[in-house]
Amino acid sequence: MRQERRKVVASERVGPYTLLRVARGGVSPGEPGQFFMLEAPGRLLPRPFSLCLAPPGELAFLVDPIGPGTEALCRLRASDEIGVLGPLGHGYRLDVERPLLVGGGIGIAPLPYLSAALGRPPAVLGFRSDWHAQAAELLPNAEVRVGPALVTQLIPDGMDVLACGPEPMLRAVAEISPDAQLAWEAPMACGYGACYGCAVEVDGVWKRLCVEGPVLRPPSANRAMTVAATSGMNP
Ligand code: FES
Repeated sequence: MRQERRKVVASERVGPYTLLRVARGGVSPGEPGQFFMLEAPGRLLPRPFSLCLAPPGELAFLVDPIGPGTEALCRLRASDEIGVLGPLGHGYRLDVERPLLVGGGIGIAPLPYLSAALGRPPAVLGFRSDWHAQAAELLPNAEVRVGPALVTQLIPDGMDVLACGPEPMLRAVAEISPDAQLAWEAPMACGYGACYGCAVEVDGVWKRLCVEGPVLRPPSANRAMTVAATSGMNP
């Protein structure tokens, strides 16, 4: 696998976020839930981003400008070039009968592409403000909660939950939906298993989050994918 140079097609504001659209070229979009390492202009390390949308000829990523790398990505303009490496990590299993997408904040990032793959199933999303909730326009059939209300209160019984969001939300989802598929935000360095920069100890064994699962420690044994969105861990 090698990094490809790709041109930026457009950079669009979505509430506080930026939807960065990059020419796809011959790069595979991969499975929903997989991520790409994007070169962050002027920074040593690339940053991981779940694929948000895969319109024809493009790869689109939702970027939360929370640090120097993500802010540099948000400053990119059409015809600028960046390095793109991927797809990496693990995708969601798509063999589900009654899918329900659950997202919190920037955790919405992988869900639009996932929604397209699953035929636009229902979704429940939580945001801290109306400004952040503008990102819900990227996802069809979404019920949106703004403010302190827990999005997990909107999860009915009997659904196959596929979730992405902050750790407390994922743990709450795992409590009420033990078979949920969870995409986990994590710090990344190389993104493909070479550096152990993402390793965590699970039952005495070091696991690299970017290539190995599950990553949720007991008592929950849910399979989880890495890595979601930009997250505060990869600013
Ligand atoms: Fe390097 Fe996972 S980020 S091994």
